Amino acid sequence: MIVVGITGASGSILGVRLVEELLNLEQKVVGVVSAEAWSVMTHELSFKPSGREPLRELLVKRGLTARLGAYQEFDDKNLFAAIASGTSSFRAVVVMPTSMKTLSAVANGYADSLITRSCDVALKEKRQCILVPRETPLSLIHVENMRKAMLAGAQIAPPMPGFYTRPKSIDDVVNFTVGKVINLLGLQHTLFKSWGAETSEES
Ligand SMILES: Cc1cc2nc3c(=O)[nH]c(=O)nc-3n(C[C@H](O)[C@H](O)[C@H](O)COP(=O)(O)O)c2cc1C
Repeated sequence: MIVVGITGASGSILGVRLVEELLNLEQKVVGVVSAEAWSVMTHELSFKPSGREPLRELLVKRGLTARLGAYQEFDDKNLFAAIASGTSSFRAVVVMPTSMKTLSAVANGYADSLITRSCDVALKEKRQCILVPRETPLSLIHVENMRKAMLAGAQIAPPMPGFYTRPKSIDDVVNFTVGKVINLLGLQHTLFKSWGAETSEES
């Protein structure tokens, strides 16, 4: 089981695509969308959720229905959800995108939301905690928080596209970051060709 948190940094599509791909890879996924991420999703994806499960609604709207049995969603304020406890068996949490506020909370153990608490749990239980921080430029506070989170065991995977895959669309750019995170989770994907495969095909 993999937890995917979406916070209010720009790039909600990254988290949405990650959930879609993980479900396609037959993973169980728990989704949590922060209150601010709802607003950003409304703006960036022209999508206004009507209920308490914004991501499920969006997945359905985007045509993913077959695998939704493997998907669960909780409110970011719901600290009674199973993933708020170390007794829950999730193996990894990915926060994609991670706002600088959530980065700060994770780096400093300020676990007042389900997303930050599940990261806190992952770090204390020595499970995978992958943060995809999105901001530019970075202040020293941001950099120090990334350093602190890394020292505590988090992996930092900023959404930085590699141009050697010759992206032709925004989808290609999004898929690159999503694919890199899926690689970190130890799963295989076909979202982009790895460097050797790319060059050997072209030669
Ligand atoms: C349209 C929009 C884009 C934003 N983009 C970013 C961003 O890229 N990085 C960031 O750290 N905060 C960004 N913010 C600010 C965060 O949403 C804000 O700090 C919020 O409190 C984060 O809360 P959360 O981490 O609980 O979602 C953005 C806000 C809006 C409205």
